[in-house]
Amino acid sequence: MDRFIITGGNRLFGDVSISGAKNAAVAIIPAAILADGVCRIENVPNINDVTIIARILRQMGAEVKSVNHSTLEIDPRPIVSPVASYEQVHQMRASYYLMGALLGRFSRAVVAMPGGCDFGVRPIDQHLKGFAALGASYNLEGGIVDVKADQLTGNNIYLDVVSVGATVNIMLAAVKARGLTVIENAAKEPHIVDLANFLNSMGADVRGAGTDVIKIRGVSHLEGTTYSIIPDQIEAGTYMVAAAAAGGDVTVHNVIPKHLESITAKLEEMGVTVEEYDEAVRIVRDGPLNKCNIKTMPHPGFPTDMQPQFTVLLSIANGTSIVNESVWDYRYRYVDELRRLGAQVSVDGKIAVIEGVKELVGAPVRATDLRAGAAMIIAGLVARGTTQIDEVEHIERGYENIVEKFQAIGADIRRTFVYENSNSKAI
Ligand code: EPZ
Repeated sequence: MDRFIITGGNRLFGDVSISGAKNAAVAIIPAAILADGVCRIENVPNINDVTIIARILRQMGAEVKSVNHSTLEIDPRPIVSPVASYEQVHQMRASYYLMGALLGRFSRAVVAMPGGCDFGVRPIDQHLKGFAALGASYNLEGGIVDVKADQLTGNNIYLDVVSVGATVNIMLAAVKARGLTVIENAAKEPHIVDLANFLNSMGADVRGAGTDVIKIRGVSHLEGTTYSIIPDQIEAGTYMVAAAAAGGDVTVHNVIPKHLESITAKLEEMGVTVEEYDEAVRIVRDGPLNKCNIKTMPHPGFPTDMQPQFTVLLSIANGTSIVNESVWDYRYRYVDELRRLGAQVSVDGKIAVIEGVKELVGAPVRATDLRAGAAMIIAGLVARGTTQIDEVEHIERGYENIVEKFQAIGADIRRTFVYENSNSKAI
């Protein structure tokens, strides 16, 4: 088991480069199943979620080659069965994209319900509603979803909830369906646009991604392609917030500043200087942090995946801030951990009230999920003394080389192995 040890108090200076977007990669890699040739995917983040989805594809028969540390070549043609078992998929939430991709290719998908970050109930009713509208029937039994259709046929689908996952899955199922599919109230996240661009580069006809109406005209054949994944909006935001929390002057490279607008706006409201360049943002923070209120919303609103990191930042700001988590029913499990460092945060349902404190003090904590784990790192960077973070496998699911990237901008952070008798060895 790995553990991170952080000694807080260092200001952060220098440059950090952002990897490819996790949430685009975990949609685009399964989407390659739809191709009748080899897909070369570049700027793939080197993270555990990608390792897992690549392994699942291999186990299903695909040839998946790592050409270099950020490029995968996938030949999906040897996959002959539309079945992904529980043993294969249980480790990651986004393996539900196999449903749409297998359905699109085989008109059938038998996929076990996935694992992943636990924010309470994570329904897939909108995914299934979409598949049904395309003419598929489904059966949910023993934790396995079996979806099948004689012929998928385009239709109008109105999503009752703006769902990234349902939008992706319907796109995957519809690209080879007969006729026109229209998704209304679709998610608009940057990774939805990236997936549409990837599918179009294979020969699909997807229009309107990035707006709330996506139109997909089915095609009979999709080719292999070469495609480069967009930079990770949330990884970039995490380093921006870390620089703001610890203070200093950090330039975050390989970003699309437009994707960071809501994050930039909140940092500026808190008194942080953010300079935008073509493919970089520079964060400078010398003075005090102001309180602010945040409501998470689907894109282009403030991203829920930045909520824990901002809660940490607000916990050392002057005054009382309110965070309203409107996307997930329960995404505050990490608050108990943050309180161990001295933060004053009270939670009532979807609302967190944060009374800024003068300082946090290091303590042992655990990463309750991916972004909560990133938030614990930020808390450790500003806390007096030493913070020990356990269960960091959650963090390594989604952040490439996070220890090394933070070390390079001056953070005192290291990874240790912890053996069962709890002796640990630094590496
Ligand atoms: C994606 O999850 C992301 N994961 C999540 O990021 C992110 O928090 C979330 O979108 C919201 O932005 C990936 O892209 C792999 P949703 P997803 O379907 O697709 C409700 C991270 O940290 N809903 O947009 O599972 C649902 O309960 C991860 O990188 C239904 O009611 O999220 C939630 O309240 C964690 N019915 C809301 O919609 C459905 O059928 C948004 O969920 C589907 C969803």
